[in-house]
Amino acid sequence: MGKSVLEIENLRTSFRIKDNYFAAVDGVSLTIYENEVVAIVGESGCGKSAFAHSIMGLHDLKRTKLEGKINFKDQNLLNLSVAGLNKVRGKDIGMIFQDPMTALNPLATIGKQIEEPMNYHMKISAAEKKKRTLELLRRVGIKNEQRVYGQYPHELSGGMRQRVVIAIALACDPVLLLADEPTTALDVTIQAQIMDLMKELQSEIKSGIILITHDLGVVAEMADRVAVMYAGELVEIAPVREIFANPLHPYTRSLLNSLPSSMGEKEKLHVIEGIVPSIQNLDRVGCRFAPRVEWVPEEEHEANPQLHEVQPGHFVRCTCYKNFSFPEEKKVGEENYVTT
Ligand SMILES: Nc1ncnc2c1ncn2[C@@H]1O[C@H](COP(=O)(O)OP(=O)(O)O)[C@@H](O)[C@H]1O
Ligand code: SF4
Ligand SMILES: [Mg+2]
Repeated sequence: MGKSVLEIENLRTSFRIKDNYFAAVDGVSLTIYENEVVAIVGESGCGKSAFAHSIMGLHDLKRTKLEGKINFKDQNLLNLSVAGLNKVRGKDIGMIFQDPMTALNPLATIGKQIEEPMNYHMKISAAEKKKRTLELLRRVGIKNEQRVYGQYPHELSGGMRQRVVIAIALACDPVLLLADEPTTALDVTIQAQIMDLMKELQSEIKSGIILITHDLGVVAEMADRVAVMYAGELVEIAPVREIFANPLHPYTRSLLNSLPSSMGEKEKLHVIEGIVPSIQNLDRVGCRFAPRVEWVPEEEHEANPQLHEVQPGHFVRCTCYKNFSFPEEKKVGEENYVTT
């Protein structure tokens, strides 16, 4: 592994609901290295966006409490003022949001929006800015870049808009890219094109990438490592091949098991029984996934499972995985998902 670009230590992000704070991200530690893609996976409501927004400093601090450390370039981002954070945001760290329409300003031209972070972070002339912007548009696969430069977001298709959002994220050569479900709001055919673009860029740029997605096919194709999140905690972290070949935590196994079967049962999705608890109703004592694994006898559950390393680089928050078998577990072999 290369140099680390971001070190997150024991991050806790809590939202105020009435008079109490409830953690949506609950003690997450994760290091991202140069040049690697780390996928964060988990069902809706597990805390993935709360995690990404904490790194970008996007939470409303009047109702959000952030604890722990997010070390980036020798400083803890959580200690920075808004001005300090603005120096990092959009320059060293670029973010690609789920919905390109809300990420863009409807009243500004595409050209101006890509140039905005450059105004802030780069001392270059107007002509250089325009040149760079046109190059970025080409780089994200927009061929008629001169025309698009002067257009407004509503004049573009959803896929084109997401390409623009990616160009903005890349505008100042970030060392870290954060993509929160970058294709969820797009049509299926466009999703594939945007993921192809992300893959292409991944091999060109040197930055670390945090890719939040629920698409395990995308994970298999793009990620180097996978971090599985459940109810605000990371329950398993492993290299991508290892996650598919040897998933250990019951939550990871149920996620993989909920993939449509490749053996003809395409229509049927094996969903995991139960739901992710809300942050107010979450029992924070003991294993958070236990209520959803009814087939494991009560006494076999671990009281307070901690993440521990079972093989180099493979961490799992469970010790009792050896003692149960998953009902109707499908054989999820890496050959099905890993293409490289
Ligand atoms: N601003 C907020 N105030 C209160 N609760 C929130 C807020 N944002 C998210 N949550 C709650 O935090 C949990 C995690 O949400 P989120 O990070 O959006 O999940 P994900 O991105 O994995 O779907 C959910 O239970 C959600 O309802
Ligand atoms: S304690 Fe271990 S076996 Fe029990 S639900 Fe949690 S992770 Fe699973
Ligand atoms: Mg989300």
